[in-house]
Amino acid sequence: MDLVRLERHEAVAVLTLNRPDALNALDRATLEALGGRAAELAADAELRAVVVTGEGRAFAAGADIAEMRGLSPTEAEAFSRLGHDTFAALEALPVPTIAAVNGFALGGGCELACACDWIYASEKARFGQPEVNLGILPGFGGTSRLVRRVGIGWARELVLTGAPIKADEALRIGLANRVFAPEALLEAALAAGRTIAEKGPVAVAQAKRLLLEGQDADVRVASALERATFGLVFSTRDREEGMAAFLEKRDPGFEGR
Ligand code: COA
Repeated sequence: MDLVRLERHEAVAVLTLNRPDALNALDRATLEALGGRAAELAADAELRAVVVTGEGRAFAAGADIAEMRGLSPTEAEAFSRLGHDTFAALEALPVPTIAAVNGFALGGGCELACACDWIYASEKARFGQPEVNLGILPGFGGTSRLVRRVGIGWARELVLTGAPIKADEALRIGLANRVFAPEALLEAALAAGRTIAEKGPVAVAQAKRLLLEGQDADVRVASALERATFGLVFSTRDREEGMAAFLEKRDPGFEGR
């Protein structure tokens, strides 16, 4: 059985965590499968966007507690590193990634969603960082990426109380961008992916990189990066085509170069 399914919907890939009996809990094998999928996607020149979701009633209910139970401190550090490396590979994809959070996104599940470019949530979604209930703390980005997504106050409340929040609260605090009826969630994420696929691929990839790298850089460094990259994309065929198409009142045909 594929622990992480990969399906292509034309230029948009859907990655589905597929351990529904364990609410898609992230054990080593699932993280390794996810990392393998990220490598596959990174090598796919025709890909324009990725949707990440979960099979069954969870997005992912966290790192696998049964597997973690027997870990030594050194093994736990390695497990955290595996999660970080895997999510960083997903985050570094040149194409945008959208988390379609269909149900529980707890612990590592919430952290996985935060490693995606943005989050769409089902009305059934539940987000949280419940690690303190187990006497542990977040290990895959809950004290780093989550802060950047929701700000320090909400990150503290989520991480330090362990209490979950519903989709409407996630929307209010900016964790989820939009909330959909369960049956509309995947199509909404695919639609966003298809919208991206119509744009200039080099521009999208560079803008994604700037948004990611810029948020941790000094504003002057981020602005300098933006200026240089703005200049760089003027060397592409796509920007000639995009501007010509606008002025000639027709749809552009972008080639990704
Ligand atoms: N690790 C390992 N197994 C998990 C898991 C996890 N993080 N989360 C759920 N599962 C397993 C359960 O053990 C159960 O397995 P079983 O059928 O063999 O007993 C199965 O998934 C279904 O979960 P269950 O707890 O019966 O469902 P529920 O609807 O009663 O509760 C949750 C759902 C999400 C509230 C509950 O499963 C939960 O609290 N999970 C752990 C969340 C967590 O602490 N995550 C952070 C880990 S660091």
